[in-house]
Amino acid sequence: MVVASAEASTVAPGRPSRGASNPAAVTVASKRWTRVPPGPPPRRSTLSSVGYYYRFLVDSLGFVRERFDRYGDIYYAPSRGVPLFVLRHPDHLWEVLVRDGAKYGKTHSAFAMLERFLGKALLTTDGDVWRRQRRMVQPAFSKKRLEGYASVMVDEADRLAREWQPGATTDVSREMMELTLRAVCRTLFSHDVRGQTDSVAEAMDVFRNALGRPDFLPRWMSPWRRQAEGAKQALDDIIYGMIRERRASGESPEPADLLHMLVTAKDTEGDGGTLGDTEIRDQLVTMFLAGHETTSHALTWTWYLLSQHPDAERKLHAELDTVLGGRLPTYEDLASLPYTRWCFEEAMRLYPPAFTIARRAEEDAEIGGYHVPKGSEVVMWIYMTHHDARWYPNPRAFIPERFAPEAVAKRPRLAYLPFAAGARACIGKMFALIEGQLVLATLAQRFRPRLAPGHEVKMAPRVTLAPKGGMPMRLEPR
Ligand code: HEM
Repeated sequence: MVVASAEASTVAPGRPSRGASNPAAVTVASKRWTRVPPGPPPRRSTLSSVGYYYRFLVDSLGFVRERFDRYGDIYYAPSRGVPLFVLRHPDHLWEVLVRDGAKYGKTHSAFAMLERFLGKALLTTDGDVWRRQRRMVQPAFSKKRLEGYASVMVDEADRLAREWQPGATTDVSREMMELTLRAVCRTLFSHDVRGQTDSVAEAMDVFRNALGRPDFLPRWMSPWRRQAEGAKQALDDIIYGMIRERRASGESPEPADLLHMLVTAKDTEGDGGTLGDTEIRDQLVTMFLAGHETTSHALTWTWYLLSQHPDAERKLHAELDTVLGGRLPTYEDLASLPYTRWCFEEAMRLYPPAFTIARRAEEDAEIGGYHVPKGSEVVMWIYMTHHDARWYPNPRAFIPERFAPEAVAKRPRLAYLPFAAGARACIGKMFALIEGQLVLATLAQRFRPRLAPGHEVKMAPRVTLAPKGGMPMRLEPR
């Protein structure tokens, strides 16, 4: 999913608030004098703020890792007078996402640009509006629906396997993006997006680029914001086209898809009227984006990791050969393909697509015994939690067996949270896990992709954790 991309997400040069010095006792936006977690000294000039922002932009993961190494599991780095708590410990994540979930909202500055693009939909709303939307959308993710989606996912993966030319080199990241986009459009909107995938991919690139940039500049000084608006228009054209088509046809697919649910929904708690096109558009564009880019990255990283770990790849192939023996997988096979799922899960540990999660305290709260005043921003570095040797010995190694039930039981529950946790956890978690397992099971029976010689694999941590410059791979037949 799409989340915050910065330590502070929107880190503007400016004067820190009075009393924001560390580690001494400081005044934050509350009446009490209170102890705050350790953290970097306040930035005293615009120049140092710009320097900080630049270092963060160049290597955000290295920058944040260094800070955790220096200050421990929780650090305090106020920005423009806003108290900011940065976390990685599973207990602290549990406090924010589960225990005190209701005290935090999505009004974090990281969501401002996101909201401009996605509108007011499930990912960005709070309170009663969010609850109403979640209730409305939830039926599209019931177990029964997921069973039906499984055959579409396999069909799309099988189609791709038949298109792939043995021995050819292709950008697997682009292929996974198109595959997951087609799957989400067919399952949730009964829409065939072939022919439009280029426009979507282009819009996503622009948007991803804009979201990781400073959001404090006025529109005329921000080329990213203007580009993002262009990208939004391109996506809107596709989405509004789908809504218009459905309204005009008046037909209902069997079983009814998410688009049908939204087009015919009655706002029972409001005036009983139907949803307007803008409200439907906001939900659709959210599902459209949240529902494909994250799964696509997770699959791409899995292919890369398998290509680098022939032992794990052999075990995967052995499981597929034994259970499927060359036939296409089905929903019923999922339980018999644990190793396939572990590979996907371990890839999301090493490369969590949503590598940070951000929140804003809507009321006073507490994290790790520290007072968190209302208005504070909190950034949870899932990437750092997933790379912590306390929960994952030899954390950089790809070891799918880490996800065997007995190994999982030994870790704190929130040591793994690619889909977040609590009430705002990902609504598409099961959709994504099923899709990951089925796509791997279909394609890995026929191909073993190998990294193109000379390609240097790097991460591009922006909105989601993408592979920088794609993932060119040679499609070796099995
Ligand atoms: C590997 C794939 C995926 C990952 C890693 C992922 C991750 C996440 C995360 C971390 C959140 C919480 C964000 C936050 O708290 O700020 C989230 C929320 C969400 N995800 Fe996913 N997601 C994935 C797939 C999907 C799919 C397939 C769909 C839909 C088809 C989807 C739809 C959503 C929506 C609508 C929300 C907002 C839920 C709410 O706030 O009620 N995601 N996702």
